[in-house]
Amino acid sequence: MAVPLLDLNTQNRSHQDSLQEAFVRVLDSSQFILGDEVAAFEEAVAERLGVAHAIGVSSGTDALLLALMALEVGPGDEVLCPSYTFFATAGCIARLGAEPVFVDVLPDSFNLDVADAAAKVSARTRAVIPVHLYGQSAEMDAVMELAQTHGLKVVEDCAQAMGARWENREVGTIGDFGTYSFFPTKNLGGFGDGGMVTTSDVALAEKVRVLRVHGSKPKYHHGRIGGNFRLDALQAALLAAKLGSLDTFLKQRRNNAAHYLKKLRAETALASKLVLPTEMEHCWHTWNQFTLRVLDGQRDALREHLRDREIASEIYYPLSLHQQQCFRNLPDRACPVSEQLARECLSIPIFPELTRNLQDEVIAVVAEFF
Ligand SMILES: Cc1ncc(COP(=O)(O)O)c(C=O)c1O
Repeated sequence: MAVPLLDLNTQNRSHQDSLQEAFVRVLDSSQFILGDEVAAFEEAVAERLGVAHAIGVSSGTDALLLALMALEVGPGDEVLCPSYTFFATAGCIARLGAEPVFVDVLPDSFNLDVADAAAKVSARTRAVIPVHLYGQSAEMDAVMELAQTHGLKVVEDCAQAMGARWENREVGTIGDFGTYSFFPTKNLGGFGDGGMVTTSDVALAEKVRVLRVHGSKPKYHHGRIGGNFRLDALQAALLAAKLGSLDTFLKQRRNNAAHYLKKLRAETALASKLVLPTEMEHCWHTWNQFTLRVLDGQRDALREHLRDREIASEIYYPLSLHQQQCFRNLPDRACPVSEQLARECLSIPIFPELTRNLQDEVIAVVAEFF
């Protein structure tokens, strides 16, 4: 039985009527950029997350960039970020002329090692970007304490973790900014690129809104240099049609994770071969990814075995960011755990619509390998 990494068709078909209705509504309106549809979606997201301001933008990458621009991060500044994350987290820092300072991650949560972050703070450090990797919150109490001690701004990269919680608080509502992605693989998957910036600070929200339209306010008067970071009306309307199902999607992801954990734990022969992912204390995990650590250098062979049986898997990420060629000019920052995870991690299918049958097939094929 073939098992894909994602099945967007099944999810979208179950929303067909509301998606088509949204599509026709936007078509009829002839308002394709920002406007009422984007405003309504922003309001709905703000309400769902319990945050004062949600600003629709062009992607999760641009959400990060805008948050850092609003904080006036630039040349001479350092920004702490995990080495084990998607490229955009650090790319945005470097694009603004600031220096990404790579921090190691913890081997059990895959998230920022705040003790390592503290050791890498300097007089030039302006901000820290905790990434809620694979759908689970970073340790936000420790991050906020670090930020307070050193006067740092906090941008939460929630691209993979919409709806996740830290001690009953929504991620993205704890730091100065939260940034989200609606890339189709995310917890709320869109129909192209899209993103959101959240903040409870009215002045920062206004800055982001102005920077989103080339720094223009009033129209054609530019106090700052922004960019075209707008969200399309069609994207917003389609996303709004799915937003009400976000909690169902998260529940399905959590059920799938619970099933994997139960079944894979019961395979006692695997105990010395695999490290299963964990839901950490104080966290409400949204399981955007279910990521195994495959020990004894067997990760690539297991992936090959899965591929032979038509089971999709992915390596997020085969290289840590401090190992990337484009960052070779930066000072050396030791991140041994990140390097180890880049060798060991393998993500297996966990999308909401994954059936028990298909999941059991994945488990059986993994077990068969060892
Ligand atoms: C952790 C993280 N940050 C940022 C992004 C960027 O989001 P987008 O692809 O919407 O630009 C992603 C997307 O994969 C991500 O996983």
